[in-house]
Amino acid sequence: MSGRNPYPVMTADEAAQFISNGDMVAFSGFTSAGAAKVIPRALAKRAREQHAKGAPFKVRVLTGASTSGAIDRDLAEAKAISWRAPYQSDKVIRNLINQEEVEYVEMHLSHLPQAVSSGFFGKVDVAVIEASEITADGRVYLTTSIGASPTFLRCADKIIIEVNRYHSPRLREMADIRIMPPPPRRYPIHIFEPMMRIGWPYALVDADKIIGIVETDLPDDNLGFAVPDEISQQIAGHVIEFLLGELAADHHPKSIFPLQAGVGNVANAVLSGLGAHPDIPPFYMFSEVFQDAMVDLMINEKLLGASAASLTITREKLQTVTGDMDFFAPKIVLRPQEISNHPGIIRRLGVISLNTAVEVDLYGNANSSHLYGTQAINGIGGSGEFTRNSYISFLMTPSIAKGGKISAIVPMCPHIDNNEHSVQIIVTEQGLADLRGLGPTHRAQVLIDKCAHPMYREYLRKYLRDGMKGHIRHNLNTCYELHRNLIEYGAMLPELAGQP
Ligand code: COA
Repeated sequence: MSGRNPYPVMTADEAAQFISNGDMVAFSGFTSAGAAKVIPRALAKRAREQHAKGAPFKVRVLTGASTSGAIDRDLAEAKAISWRAPYQSDKVIRNLINQEEVEYVEMHLSHLPQAVSSGFFGKVDVAVIEASEITADGRVYLTTSIGASPTFLRCADKIIIEVNRYHSPRLREMADIRIMPPPPRRYPIHIFEPMMRIGWPYALVDADKIIGIVETDLPDDNLGFAVPDEISQQIAGHVIEFLLGELAADHHPKSIFPLQAGVGNVANAVLSGLGAHPDIPPFYMFSEVFQDAMVDLMINEKLLGASAASLTITREKLQTVTGDMDFFAPKIVLRPQEISNHPGIIRRLGVISLNTAVEVDLYGNANSSHLYGTQAINGIGGSGEFTRNSYISFLMTPSIAKGGKISAIVPMCPHIDNNEHSVQIIVTEQGLADLRGLGPTHRAQVLIDKCAHPMYREYLRKYLRDGMKGHIRHNLNTCYELHRNLIEYGAMLPELAGQP
């Protein structure tokens, strides 16, 4: 921070005193990248102290997406969260959500900034935002994520900045920040190629709203990915074979259209596989998170450039990136989530999306967020925005889970995040089902033949044969039989229940 800054420097504990029971608190962070780090922990401490005195203390928590352990683990463990939006991926808060102790609003991530600035969730009392610098005139240089921080800075009544000296100030070279005007006077967004820039390297804040700054020196706590297992590699192999077929069929004029990859080991394996394949031409990404595999793809000149809302990479990979900013900075653009996940831009660029589901039904409806239709896992995240608007949308999943006790291909999903109208291609390690141009019964047949695990194919074929005839065949008495069996016997097919 420059020595001319007028803002009071305070400790995290002092900053936490400005947050009251019942406040809506917006924290920076899109994944662990750029997440507020010390004030959430101090707030957890404050909540515990208040609870020990018998006083209520819970806040409503907004972030860009999932976040660091300081928020969804420490603050949640302190029983200090009453309401949470728009996404989480931590088991502590997940358990509280599923025990109905935390109210959880999971939503399309690009919708969040507009919902906040329109006041749909009430006012934002305090924003706690990580930055590498704040200037006296209110320019805030964010760190490894942009996410919803520019909107939080604009809308919150009070603002506290965590100035994190761990991060390279040169990260600002990747930032491209612009807040869209409210409807109905929105103008076209001038992004016609993945790397086009339309904004500024900083977010703006009314300096009078800043209560103070807290200095930190802490890295993000993004976890690395496992070395791709055999199943992920098989899924990746099917995706690559399909994309090579598309190129040969001339559905992609010169090269592959920009790719988006969801979170997780399967997506990471697909990216690594694409990078290693000699026949896949260099490509761009228009995605939500910039993840580990993309660093190596850039070094190998397979990935020409990437647009995202965050740099969700491990400490080692971040060092690689910040150690050679002359190489990486022009190739990475970090945007507000309203833009990184914007449906219109995704459609305009012809993005090819690669996301993950936990189960898919016979007609291509996919569940990514709720086991048994009741238990939240993470949330829909950006998968809906990309799946709905992509040129080609893939959903990937292993065909079975828990050693075969669970089939990922089921008659009807008890919860649907991405529906049959958006999902085009399903991939499991068994194969790839291209559902484009197929009517419902035809879709079901292809999904069973190509994607279902052999031990479930007979059951699924019988379900289809015996279903009530119609445009979509279903049997309302048995459509959830596999899920009911799973709850009752511990396996979707009772005969598999005793197996290890
Ligand atoms: N029923 C019950 N349990 C199931 C299941 C099913 N149909 N399918 C999987 N599981 C279990 C797994 O066995 C695993 O259990 P474990 O934690 O005890 O090992 C757990 O559920 C998670 O499954 P896994 O296959 O390891 O998930 P993943 O890490 O590959 O993540 C999603 C998959 C769908 C949860 C994750 O990609 C996600 O949250 N997606 C939604 C958000 C998104 O797509 N974001 C990116 C968009 S840009």
